[in-house]
Amino acid sequence: MALSSSPQPGRERHPVPDPGLQDFLHALPKAELHLHLEGSVQPETLRELDPALSLDEIRTNLHYTGFAGFLKAYVWVTRKLDSPEAYALATRRLLEALAAQNVRYAEITLSAGVILWKEQRIETIFEAISSEANHFENVQVGWIFDAIRQFGADKAAYVFDVAKELRAQGVVGIGIGGDEERGPASWYGRLFRAAKDVGLGLTCHAGEVSGPQSIWDAIEIGAQRIGHGIRALEDPGLIKELAARDIPLEVCPSSNVYTGAVSSLGEHPLRRLWDTGVPIVLGSDDPALFHTSLMHEYMLAANLFGFNRTELQQLAANSLRYRFNQPLA
Ligand code: ADE
Ligand code: ZN
Repeated sequence: MALSSSPQPGRERHPVPDPGLQDFLHALPKAELHLHLEGSVQPETLRELDPALSLDEIRTNLHYTGFAGFLKAYVWVTRKLDSPEAYALATRRLLEALAAQNVRYAEITLSAGVILWKEQRIETIFEAISSEANHFENVQVGWIFDAIRQFGADKAAYVFDVAKELRAQGVVGIGIGGDEERGPASWYGRLFRAAKDVGLGLTCHAGEVSGPQSIWDAIEIGAQRIGHGIRALEDPGLIKELAARDIPLEVCPSSNVYTGAVSSLGEHPLRRLWDTGVPIVLGSDDPALFHTSLMHEYMLAANLFGFNRTELQQLAANSLRYRFNQPLA
């Protein structure tokens, strides 16, 4: 049964049944800002792409433990996207899922760094996915091109150059993801500054598995949003800085449990982060790999982390407020 927390200020939160919660969350105008196209590909879509794939093979390859195991599974899925048409199908299925959740706006991350590594043409794939997304009138899409931290700055420079070229076609930001231990943010400072100069938004996966210094490094190169950033909680000075600079954390609780970044949902710092006043938006990250959806993350916020309806509304409002592609006033 759906639960919401008791609204009395200063009292311990006692979840009380809230039978209308699902409808309330569905109706909220909300955006999804931390979502990877490749991590959204469901087993059924993999079978649409390659009918020869057995369910056993899919299950085996999508079973992982720990962050390194997750990255391997992510690469396995990404290899199945072997043509622009395959990317377009993944986009169609993702947008259907977003529309069903009443997500009005999505900033979808494309692992352009992995496309380059697979020796596919980023521009051709982007043409396929953006024209697919344009068929969905109810969900507006902005694209974030992501480079892989551990692949280095030369590869990222190419990815970000393509991103700059495609701004008019809907690329709104750039990011760095992958392994923050093996690709420090400092490698990307010059590239981030150049992207900002042409109006692209800047986000960084940081403080997901590495400690607070990784988030400081992301701020130092100009990140305007932090992917995950959950380890900011270990450094009160950093929390203050993020709040003062109005830099939100894109928090994805299910993701953090599946990748082993936190040991269980019960241990997840979402509530503690929220209570510090640092800006937060919720994300699903890789919904197929983490068996979740944006709606599910909101339900967790309510049922597990005691967010009341006002707080849930604030989370949804944040998701619209911190989008890179602001609607014209
Ligand atoms: N790419 C896709 N999901 C990611 C995550 N959770 N962390 C780093 N890189 C990613
Ligand atoms: Zn991510």
